[in-house]
Amino acid sequence: MFNIEEIRSQFPITQKEFKVYGSDEFKKLIYFDHGASTHPPLRVLNKYIDFLKNYYANVHRGHHFLSMISSELFDHVYDTIYRYVKADSEDNAVILTSNTTYALDIAASVMSGIEGITLVSMMEHHSNDLPHRKRSEVQHFGLNPDGTINMADLEYKLHKYKVKLVAVTGASNVTGYMPDIHGIARLAHQNGAKILVDAAQLLAHKAIDVKPNDDIEHIDFLAGAGHKAYAPFGSAFLIGPRKILDEAEPYIPGGGTVVYVTTDDVYFAKSPDRHQGGTPNIAGAIALAESLKFLDEVGLDNIRQHEMELTGYALKGLKRIEGINLLGDFKLKDRLGVISFNVKDLSNNLVSSVLNYESAIATRNGCFCAHPYLHFLLGLTDTTELRAKLVLGEDIDLPGAVRVTIGIFNTKEEIDILLEELSRIAENRWSANYDALISGFSCNEVVLNPN
Ligand SMILES: Cc1ncc(COP(=O)(O)O)c(C=O)c1O
Repeated sequence: MFNIEEIRSQFPITQKEFKVYGSDEFKKLIYFDHGASTHPPLRVLNKYIDFLKNYYANVHRGHHFLSMISSELFDHVYDTIYRYVKADSEDNAVILTSNTTYALDIAASVMSGIEGITLVSMMEHHSNDLPHRKRSEVQHFGLNPDGTINMADLEYKLHKYKVKLVAVTGASNVTGYMPDIHGIARLAHQNGAKILVDAAQLLAHKAIDVKPNDDIEHIDFLAGAGHKAYAPFGSAFLIGPRKILDEAEPYIPGGGTVVYVTTDDVYFAKSPDRHQGGTPNIAGAIALAESLKFLDEVGLDNIRQHEMELTGYALKGLKRIEGINLLGDFKLKDRLGVISFNVKDLSNNLVSSVLNYESAIATRNGCFCAHPYLHFLLGLTDTTELRAKLVLGEDIDLPGAVRVTIGIFNTKEEIDILLEELSRIAENRWSANYDALISGFSCNEVVLNPN
């Protein structure tokens, strides 16, 4: 059973308070920025610290107790990831790396030697677009007017080009929309292409099943990161077909990637070592595995249910506030708790700042590293003027939005406070003067917690 009080008690950050503008009182932090990074629960923190305190040693290179224990803990991480995404360890390799961007770039890199183009969806985070542009020819597949994937355009382009890879997000970091990744996999495979799913947003919020390698709906490559799944920063993974990974050039050749080296020859190791040059983030990987076990034990279906309820409740409330313009409007079953919006024509910097400084509500604002998708959702078809100003180095307010992302420990009461505060903002009733803040965007000492 999902008990929210019990869940909250496991996250020390839920106790955090900040002094807010115009009051001597401290207010409980309301954290709605899970889409950027999530906080580790106690058991993950304890695992992390326990490793640093008691077992800290490099892996695979020592015949002493610490190194052997460290190696064993590290090697278990792979098994946990296989289990978490239901992948077959015979056919697939897990490559441990530092963040989703690296994981996606490794996929782009290992596919770069294969003939064909990469099809990238128009709703991608830049991290699942720019690495492909750097390493292969890229074409984008389009969107429907409602901001969902245009499957007909994808199919058309799969026929038109020789496609080797389709790159698509498991869930948008702007709208939370979850494309039908298995339907896309089916189309890709029917046309001789592989699929890469960016699971950065999905990983901690909905159960993932990559399906067996011989299933037409199998996800070939999947990338995810610990810092968006209740583990510390600096640990992430890519899972992909062993055959492709082992035939590709090592991502960063160096220590740990070889079996044997002479002055004129190198015998590279198989995956994962082949693509894990240098010392990995051992403590981070162990903490990542612990967080995945934690999520599994709470139950991804329970988490999904809780977050769907909160998302539905928040959306209902937001739609009632005059002046709020939501980006994208999808069925609850097709989206995560990622909600982007603008308040009338107020700057997104201002709205986020008022929420923060006056109510200790943490949101994110800006373009969310997904400029093409955001422009589409905002109906910005002509960006010529914007580009011209950028080229001239002018200080411009980029078009953007405010984003609320819901996570495991959020509550209905927190959403009520958010809605109340947004109603106040929509009526232009904020207290402080933000003229300096919205351009400088720094913390001022009035609100900094001296503790
Ligand atoms: C969908 C998506 N993909 C990729 C990334 C990049 O993740 P990382 O910061 O772990 O490289 C993010 C980060 O916000 C994201 O939301």
